[in-house]
Amino acid sequence: MQKSTKGMGAAFGTALAITAVTLGVQGSDDKATRLALELTARFSFVLFWLAYAGGAIASLFRIDALAGRSREFGLAFAAAHLVHIGLVIWLGYLMGRVPLSGGLLLFFLVGLAFTYLLAFLSFGGARALGPLWRPLRFVGMNYILIAFGRDFVLPVLHPKPTQHNSAHFLAYAPFAAASVLAPLLLLAVTWRHRAVLKTA
Ligand code: HEM
Repeated sequence: MQKSTKGMGAAFGTALAITAVTLGVQGSDDKATRLALELTARFSFVLFWLAYAGGAIASLFRIDALAGRSREFGLAFAAAHLVHIGLVIWLGYLMGRVPLSGGLLLFFLVGLAFTYLLAFLSFGGARALGPLWRPLRFVGMNYILIAFGRDFVLPVLHPKPTQHNSAHFLAYAPFAAASVLAPLLLLAVTWRHRAVLKTA
């Protein structure tokens, strides 16, 4: 079995286990489902983050274990995020309507479309796209990062009156910081490459 297929299975299984434990302990109502959504979203964000910034970290800090594994982490993220969608459908069933609406629904649906378009194209389609693949990947990955960033950064910058506590801060701030750090790591690698080329 290919490494990427194993990684997808492990990521999907872990997200499913997080969901099973959360709903098993908390029940399967609206509140518990939202908690499972928040936990599985954080798990899939870690995988996405490694797909986005793992190569840059490998290059900047010479961590070989992260080099050349962007596709593997990206596919693992797409697999784990299927559980998010399953939970959204369950929440929709409980609420009797689609959980998000209007512009916000469209915003996250586009993120979802990019997630599975990039995953699908990575099975050979990327090669067929030729020079279009890199810009498409750039736009898609940054869109998904912004989608995560929106959910993590806004609650840190504008917490609701009930959210002025350290538990809330800890649940959001590390992920908000990681969302901001990711593009900076990519920029740092680009600047370093340029500096090396200049001095060569
Ligand atoms: C790539 C696409 C998506 C990303 C990156 C994403 C990201 C996230 C994140 C980070 C959270 C946790 C928020 C928190 O902790 O406060 C979350 C929760 C949630 N997401 Fe998504 N999501 C995506 C797609 C969707 C879609 C398409 C829907 C609905 C159609 C959706 C509905 C929800 C709901 C209802 C929650 C629970 C919010 C709550 O706590 O009340 N998501 N999502």
